[in-house]
Amino acid sequence: MSPPDEVVVRPLEPADDRAAFRSGNIDLDRFFQRYAGQNQFRHHIGTTWVAVVEGRILGFATVSAAHLEVGELPTAIRRKLPAYPLPVLRLARLAVAEEAKGQGVGRALLRVVFILAWRMADEFGCVGVVVDAKAEAVGFYERLGFAALAHGKGGLGDRPEPTAMFLELGAIPRPDGPAGARRR
Ligand SMILES: CC(C)(COP(=O)(O)OP(=O)(O)OC[C@H]1O[C@@H](n2cnc3c(N)ncnc32)[C@H](O)[C@@H]1OP(=O)(O)O)[C@@H](O)C(=O)NCCC(=O)NCCS
Repeated sequence: MSPPDEVVVRPLEPADDRAAFRSGNIDLDRFFQRYAGQNQFRHHIGTTWVAVVEGRILGFATVSAAHLEVGELPTAIRRKLPAYPLPVLRLARLAVAEEAKGQGVGRALLRVVFILAWRMADEFGCVGVVVDAKAEAVGFYERLGFAALAHGKGGLGDRPEPTAMFLELGAIPRPDGPAGARRR
């Protein structure tokens, strides 16, 4: 399904009201409400992008620069690359509000994540997008082209362990221009 026409994906702003956001996952909601802002505005360890419809935040995606050891990559990709740590964009958190699930909001957020991966590639280097996928979200990422990393292990302390998944930059269409990811 396509996202509602009026969905806008933009960077989190300090004044955004995050208190009412409910994804059904208490850890993700708590992260969004308590930590997303300070991580972005004070510590500069990641940025959160919000999907807004008619002034309401219906989803968010948090990204940060990261790296993968070359040995973590699938063999076919590894063979093409030098044997040192490789820059990637990490999709650290993703959640859609309960009432908006299944309407394309998650996909709209990922579209912006892909634009950011290309922006990172052009400006600093980036070989792809990595995510530690919760078991129930693995199918969502597979639909978008992600594949499990062979020996990947998750980093969020979740039980069961999340699945580390990767999408190569070359498999992400280069966006036409910067318009898709609105900037402040
Ligand atoms: C996973 C999540 C982000 C998906 O967001 P969403 O807005 O509901 O997904 P979309 O409507 O954009 O779906 C895009 C496509 O993925 C499919 N899809 C959505 N959730 C899926 C799932 N859990 N498993 C398999 N496919 C899924 C949709 O059917 C759709 O397919 P289509 O384009 O062929 O119709 C959302 O369900 C969520 O917030 N879940 C709880 C938190 C979570 O698990 N976050 C991920 C942490 S790693």
